[in-house]
Amino acid sequence: MATLKTSILGIEFENPFLLASAPPTASIESIDKSFEMGWGGAVLKTITPDDLEMVEASPRYATIKEKGKIICLQNIELLSHKTIQYWVDGIKYLKEKYPSKVIIASIMAPVECEEWQNLVKTFNNTPIDAFELNFSCPHGMPEKNIGMAIGTSAEISNLITSWVKAVAQKPVFVKLTPNVTNITWIANAVEKAGADGLAAINTVQGFMGINLDTLEPVLNIDGHSTYGGLSGEAVKPIGFKCVAQIRQNSNLPILGMGGISNWEDAAQYIALGSDAVQICTEVMINGYGIINNLKSGLLNYLETKGFKNISELKNIAIKKITSHEKLNKKNHLYPLIDKEKCIKCGKCAKICSESEYNALSIDKESLCINKEQCVGCSLCSHICPKEAIKMCC
Ligand SMILES: Cc1cc2nc3c(=O)[nH]c(=O)nc-3n(C[C@H](O)[C@H](O)[C@H](O)COP(=O)(O)O)c2cc1C
Repeated sequence: MATLKTSILGIEFENPFLLASAPPTASIESIDKSFEMGWGGAVLKTITPDDLEMVEASPRYATIKEKGKIICLQNIELLSHKTIQYWVDGIKYLKEKYPSKVIIASIMAPVECEEWQNLVKTFNNTPIDAFELNFSCPHGMPEKNIGMAIGTSAEISNLITSWVKAVAQKPVFVKLTPNVTNITWIANAVEKAGADGLAAINTVQGFMGINLDTLEPVLNIDGHSTYGGLSGEAVKPIGFKCVAQIRQNSNLPILGMGGISNWEDAAQYIALGSDAVQICTEVMINGYGIINNLKSGLLNYLETKGFKNISELKNIAIKKITSHEKLNKKNHLYPLIDKEKCIKCGKCAKICSESEYNALSIDKESLCINKEQCVGCSLCSHICPKEAIKMCC
């Protein structure tokens, strides 16, 4: 029998699914409900010193949808609006009611030692399981020289981590931004400063676009807009890349996230090196109830594969990622056409000829492949509207 129970830095998790720091963890009442429904833990919406101004814009969201489903969310939301005392009391309440749930305090402060250490000292005296340092919010905060302004500088990230580590009595995770040239530079810097674990990714900085009727931004705040954070399914490949890159350079525990919408995504994050995962946007779209399928799907997968626990799946795919230079270039694949499925629309031949190679042609009877011209790129298999083309030797 497999189990979803796992242990990270001595913290016991009943399952590896945590709510990420975001609207689903913005109040004690809602976290209470999520725990009741089976989430393994929650990272609290980022807490800041009470005197840090937090004024929101309206609206704060824009989306890209595919077949009615939100696949990309842009947000310009800031951090928690609740006071420190609210969280101190709430954490105590939650831990008494749910001793086996993991509670992580996400914190952010101006770049001053005393400000960070005061926050840490306050939450040392609560029953949290760990800290998560938010070095990664891409909007609003960088204008105040915090958030992503910290996480894009290896030097400042290192400095603040060492301030925090000097006083923290609980493990310290650092939440990294993908909005850097190479996330491992920052990961290494905070590891050197004593970080106990890493969390990635926060949102990807982006801009949703322009409404061509009004010529105003799609995320329109009184005719204006700003760059925001993208999340949801569309950012998953960026999250995968960041987690894999971190894992290839570090043995620290990783809380992986970015675009997880089902157990399959979570399993991939674990295979790429995550110790547990966090989810935000999918919960904002479909509610806490997704936890049932996440848990049953992952457990069933572990059992089918013969893994006893998460640790046996962790890192398993990381060895498969190498440099382009080391890829086997002798492995030439060709398109294989399923004649039953092919409707001879000619799209593959047209695209192949217009994308340089011209290896496919269509006559009345069938689709023909000129093997001498074919470079085995696989584009035809991706653009076929009937999925009639597969690549094989
Ligand atoms: C509306 C919104 C608010 C967020 N607020 C925070 C926050 O306060 N602190 C933080 O560390 N991350 C915050 N995030 C980022 C998420 O925790 C998460 O890193 C990101 O959304 C990627 O995961 P996802 O694709 O599952 O949403 C926020 C994300 C969204 C969409």
